[in-house]
Amino acid sequence: MIFDNLWLSVALLPAVLAAQPSAPEPVEAPLRKLPWGQLNFLATTDTHGWHGGHLQEPQYSADWGDYISFAHHLRQKAHDDGSDLLLVDTGDRVEGNGLYDASSPKGHYTFDIFKHQNIDIITSGNHELYKKNSSDNEYYHTVPNFKEAYIASNLDIYNPETGKLQPLAQRFRKFTTKNQGIRIMAFGFLFNFQGNANNTVVQRVQDTIKEKWFQDAIRDKDIDLFVVAGHVPVSDSSESDAIFKAIRDVTWDTPIAFFGGHTHIRDYHKFDKIAYGLESGRYMETLGFMSISGLGHHANNSDIAPLATPEFKRRYIDNNLYSLYRHSGKNETTFSTEAGRKVSASISAARKHLNLDHTYGCAPRDYWLNRAPYPHESSILTWLENEVLPDTARNLTKSPQLIITNTGAMRFDIFEGPFTIDTTFLVSPFTSGFHRLKNVPYKAAKQLLQLLNNEGKILLSEMMVMSAVHRDLGKFAPRHLWELAPPKPPVSQWAQQQIENDEDIDETLRREFGQEVMKAAGRGKHDTPLVPGYTTVDDAGKDGDDTIHAPIRFYDVPNCIQAEVNLPSDKKDLETVDIVYNEFIERWILLALRFLGEDYGDKDVEATFDGMSFTDVLSEWVHKNWAC
Ligand SMILES: *[C@@H]1O[C@H](CO)[C@@H](O)[C@H](O)[C@H]1NC(C)=O
Ligand SMILES: *[C@@H]1O[C@H](CO)[C@@H](O)[C@H](O)[C@H]1NC(C)=O
Ligand SMILES: *[C@@H]1O[C@H](CO)[C@@H](O)[C@H](O)[C@H]1NC(C)=O
Ligand SMILES: *[C@@H]1O[C@H](CO)[C@@H](O)[C@H](O)[C@H]1NC(C)=O
Ligand SMILES: *[C@@H]1O[C@H](CO)[C@@H](O)[C@H](O)[C@H]1NC(C)=O
Repeated sequence: MIFDNLWLSVALLPAVLAAQPSAPEPVEAPLRKLPWGQLNFLATTDTHGWHGGHLQEPQYSADWGDYISFAHHLRQKAHDDGSDLLLVDTGDRVEGNGLYDASSPKGHYTFDIFKHQNIDIITSGNHELYKKNSSDNEYYHTVPNFKEAYIASNLDIYNPETGKLQPLAQRFRKFTTKNQGIRIMAFGFLFNFQGNANNTVVQRVQDTIKEKWFQDAIRDKDIDLFVVAGHVPVSDSSESDAIFKAIRDVTWDTPIAFFGGHTHIRDYHKFDKIAYGLESGRYMETLGFMSISGLGHHANNSDIAPLATPEFKRRYIDNNLYSLYRHSGKNETTFSTEAGRKVSASISAARKHLNLDHTYGCAPRDYWLNRAPYPHESSILTWLENEVLPDTARNLTKSPQLIITNTGAMRFDIFEGPFTIDTTFLVSPFTSGFHRLKNVPYKAAKQLLQLLNNEGKILLSEMMVMSAVHRDLGKFAPRHLWELAPPKPPVSQWAQQQIENDEDIDETLRREFGQEVMKAAGRGKHDTPLVPGYTTVDDAGKDGDDTIHAPIRFYDVPNCIQAEVNLPSDKKDLETVDIVYNEFIERWILLALRFLGEDYGDKDVEATFDGMSFTDVLSEWVHKNWAC
């Protein structure tokens, strides 16, 4: 009978007492239960400041305070049945939401909000390190807030007081779980990131694992489980693979749990039959859950029988109150804890203080980053290319221009309705402005976009290799290819395929909802029974998402887009154009121009667009063009 491990309900939830006051009510949906085990983990990653939850998407509308209440109840459950619960966060907590970005200095409220969650293993992402300010904040706030839970296996910082290079935090953490007495050796890694400010040093993972401290740690005999937390993808990652191999080289039978991040996807990767990795998506949409049973041989609690082989399970929890109530066995009156309520209230106060709901204008429709094809009238990129960038440029200059921006500068969708201060930070949190190179020969300029998009004769990857070979080009070498374009969401298939293994579920859904299940796509409409959302396929199959969603189709978009401004219709006599670009991609622009035979350098670069940042450009345009 399917209801044994599935909750199904079609009623709407009554008024909600937690989350942010303006958060939409979550809609009930069929849910898969948490596969609770001997040792359980909740894992967050890439929250990027979204600690207030999603205020325009009911499916992800719970906030950090709710997560605190939720973890409390699950910890209580572990206490009651003698199992254990651990919490992990793998970085990129900052940048990407007004709650972090709109304050001055940035993050003024974030650290005090975040610290109230009881986290057992926490690491840094790359976003904590782009600016000296933000990594110093890790040193001054996050590391002391989380003390022995903060792990920096391959990350050093120049101590802002003494100027001396030192590990940002301890290299590893060895501890024993409270109820089961499981002995854990935990590491905290960052991928081989190079775009950090010069006050931090990221050691290559492949070098770090050769160091004595690591080699000693993995030879520790009194360990039941290795936990490798890190801002590193779990699948297709040379860093994760190297760590896995290093551990397996010295122990073939100790289970390993990886908790990853960075690529913003829900993912679960099998390394071998006792080593799995979980990645918990992005932006507080997902609370990742993993359980392992059958660990150790010295557990005192006999209720949980030891298994021959440890068993790993996973679930991706949609971060909304409906899911959180059901998984914790609570309801609207019993769910919020005092600590959780306090944090929700302080988020709310901070949002108010930052005036995040101040409206610049109202979007006439939804615009999508990946949920619409490009080009398309519902594509954010098409909107930028045809409207925002040309309108802004035309007002400032008469000279012919090619305006290029990386699509990675855009982070999120725009929903129909109020476009607020908060929206600008969600859509584009970057403080970089626009730069200009004047009078670039059109012959070369017109090939730039192709080159940046990997569509020309020379591929970007080859450019990168060349730049590494030619030392003089080295300083233009890109940080990390991923930074150019938005992360690729997992390819989704239709719901029917997602759940085809669960014949009963499929049958039930078909009976209850008719053909809607197959047709539904796009954002939730009131008459759509299944909420559109993640339909994840991973190494364990198609049943990872807690909520059974109607699928959303995601589309690939190019690395860069280009707007042409003031170009004559006949380009035969066009000798030169100005190239205007998002400052963030300057290195690629200069590098690509060199490959096209045009030698431009720092001295040729000037600021343009009146020094406005991308965020300013967006809010200006919306203010002038989208009346409410
Ligand atoms: C960086 O830190 C300094 C000193 O605390 C502060 O004055 C400045 O506003 C910060 N910059 C940002 C962008 O937050
Ligand atoms: C198991 O129980 C024994 C005796 O009650 C106790 O001394 C020991 O500390 C317990 N071990 C763990 C890991 O809890
Ligand atoms: C980092 O760069 C700044 C400015 O470019 C320089 O003043 C400083 O000495 C550098 N710090 C280190 C640790 O290299
Ligand atoms: C919530 O749960 C409590 C305890 O189980 C129960 O007494 C109460 O009636 C429930 N409230 C609602 C609104 O369902
Ligand atoms: C361009 O300038 C005109 C006239 O000054 C003004 O009305 C319009 O709002 C400006 N548009 C933008 C995008 O700056």
